[in-house]
Amino acid sequence: MKILVTGGAGYIASHTNLELLNAGYEVVAIDNLSNSCKESIRRVEKITGKEISFYENDIRDKEALINIFNKENIDGVIHFAGLKAVGESCRIPLEYYNNNISGTINLLEVMDRFDVKNLVFSSSATVYGDPKTVPITEDFPLSVTNPYGRTKLMIEDILRDLYSADPEWNIAILRYFNPIGAHESGEIGEDPNGIPNNLLPYIAKVASGILDKINIFGGDYDTHDGTGVRDFIHVVDLSLGHIKAIEKLGDKPGLVTYNLGTGQGHSVMDIINNYEKACNKKLPYVITDRRPGDIAVSFADPSKAYNELGWKAKRGIEEMCRDSYNWQSKNPNGYR
Ligand code: NAD
Ligand code: WQD
Repeated sequence: MKILVTGGAGYIASHTNLELLNAGYEVVAIDNLSNSCKESIRRVEKITGKEISFYENDIRDKEALINIFNKENIDGVIHFAGLKAVGESCRIPLEYYNNNISGTINLLEVMDRFDVKNLVFSSSATVYGDPKTVPITEDFPLSVTNPYGRTKLMIEDILRDLYSADPEWNIAILRYFNPIGAHESGEIGEDPNGIPNNLLPYIAKVASGILDKINIFGGDYDTHDGTGVRDFIHVVDLSLGHIKAIEKLGDKPGLVTYNLGTGQGHSVMDIINNYEKACNKKLPYVITDRRPGDIAVSFADPSKAYNELGWKAKRGIEEMCRDSYNWQSKNPNGYR
């Protein structure tokens, strides 16, 4: 089976490529390298001893996609490509709509033309907005508060419309919670451009002395220690969820939607405490104002993925922090 991985050089894609190759799939990757480096592809090849067929192209370039579908015998697509920074999406919304929405429509049109109708899509827990209760199940109401989130919800709607028009499609919508950590080898990991927006890459840079202190966004939430609570999930567990989703598409399930989370909520302070153990040093922090748009608590009910895919996250926050620090200390400047 040959899988086209869009955004194939990115953080979650590189870990998924590794698991796909280990599971015996062939991998074709397309990435415009707007938020990644080709080095991640090379490292996955090094770890697995297998080759990835890599195309440095933009998914909005239809001719490039047609060329790939003509050359490679694609059986299914895992669609990671997209811009993902919430704050940036508020500053440059048109780029987000153009990249994420136009890119996806382009991809779907080419898949349709080549009669490749198996798709796994990277959605996000952001589509649940500010949930009234936790844990969150897949049938919770959907709402979004920023352009990034809106692109995810719009793409989900497009996929639901596509499936109702043509039930030959098999589509798995995966709603990720908060992916963190890195492969245990320390060879691949998260490598954001500039100052990180997300908690874990920020902590990693403080742990390695590149940034001076962690800013905790709010210490007065209604949580066990006042800091925000999230469902942090190890990126390797998340990647293994994609293998299960691809297998599921083989049963022709139609359109299916799964939460990929651990079902456990951990606070920002819990993560800092675990990270201090992982790096064996005290991490300076200050508690600042809440970040606009943030919610207090979010964690998944992942039982649907367990019941229907046989998938469950196995790695705890100790391993997530350990593997994050291992990647950070081996690669203080990321892939560069
Ligand atoms: P990432 O930025 O590391 O990966 C995305 C990749 O897509 C990058 O390599 C980028 O260069 C590429 N890309 C962007 N636009 C492209 C285009 N038009 N054509 C070709 N390539 C393009 O991000 P990630 O964290 O690995 O996220 C992967 C997917 O998962 C994204 O769709 C993201 O929205 C989604 N997601 C991520 C998280 C998270 O917290 N990391 C949570 C939920 C959902
Ligand atoms: C986690 C917690 C912050 C940074 C985002 C997107 C979501 C999804 C995952 C893509 C929060 C706190 C953070 C810092 C802090 N991405 N924090 N200091 O906001 O839960 O989710 O990434 O789909 O859509 O919104 O993740 O890592 O930014 O924040 O205190 O420097 O850490 O307030 O409580 P978030 P995050």
